[in-house]
Amino acid sequence: MKLLELKEPVFAAHRGLSSFFPENTMPAFIAALNLGCSMIELDVGITKDNEIVVIHDDTLDRTTTGRGKISDNFYSDIFYKADAGKILSSGKISAKVPRLEEVLNLVKDRAVLNIEIKSEVYKKGDDKKSSEAMILWLVEKKNMIDQVIFSSFNHKILLRLRELSKTANLGILTSGEPRPPVGLTRKLNAFSWHPGHVNLSKKHIRYYKRHTGKKVIPYTVNKPKKASKLIKSGVSGFFTDCPQKFI
Ligand code: G3P
Ligand code: CA
Repeated sequence: MKLLELKEPVFAAHRGLSSFFPENTMPAFIAALNLGCSMIELDVGITKDNEIVVIHDDTLDRTTTGRGKISDNFYSDIFYKADAGKILSSGKISAKVPRLEEVLNLVKDRAVLNIEIKSEVYKKGDDKKSSEAMILWLVEKKNMIDQVIFSSFNHKILLRLRELSKTANLGILTSGEPRPPVGLTRKLNAFSWHPGHVNLSKKHIRYYKRHTGKKVIPYTVNKPKKASKLIKSGVSGFFTDCPQKFI
C-alpha cells in the first residue's frame, strides 16, 4: 500500500500490535497485518557493525534479555543472546530483535510503514555515509519509498534525509506542549506532523492544517473517547497500541 492510497482515519499500529505481542517484533507486525492495519509504526537503531535493527530504546535492557547499548553490540550478539519476547496470557512467546530489512520484506505492498529513526542514530559527519543514508538506501533498494514515512524527534535527521532525497515522506515528531511546526514543515516539505496527543487541541490542528495543508497524526491514542474527539478535530488518524479497538 502506498501513502496516497491510505484511507482516513488511519489507525497506525504502534510498534506493531503491541497491546498483545512483544513490541517491535515480527509477531507484533504479523498480527497487525492480519488485523488489517493499513499503517505500522516501528523504531530503528544501529548496531556496532551498522545493522539497522528494530527496537525502541538505545539499550537492550528494557525489551530484551540482553544488556547494553545497541551501538555497542554486534548484530550477531543481539541475534543469539537477546530474546525480545514476553509472557502472554497464553504462555511465553520468544522473538528476535528484527532487522529493518525483514520488516520491509514482510510489509511490502501490504501496509504503509512509519520508520521512526531514534535520535541516537544521528552523528555529525558526511551526510552520504550517515546512518540515515543507510536507512534511506535500504528503503530505496526495496523500492518502497512511496510506502514509507520516515519520522524522528531529531529534526537534524529529517533535514539530512531531505538533502539526500527529494521524494522521501517525512513526519515531524514533537513532544511536550504541541506547537504546530509550520516553518519546519515548509522547509522540509514534510508529509505530516506527529505530535503527542496530550494537550493537542482543535486549534493547534486547524492552525497547522490551514498553514501547511499537511496531515496531523498524533501518538499514542488508546482511548476511544479521546480518539473520536481528535478525529472530529481534524486529525488524519493516530498511532495506537490497540488498533483492534478501532478497526
Ligand atoms: O511515532 C510515534 C511515537 O512512536 C513516538 O514516541 O516514544 O513511542 O517512540 P515513542
Ligand atoms: Ca516510535
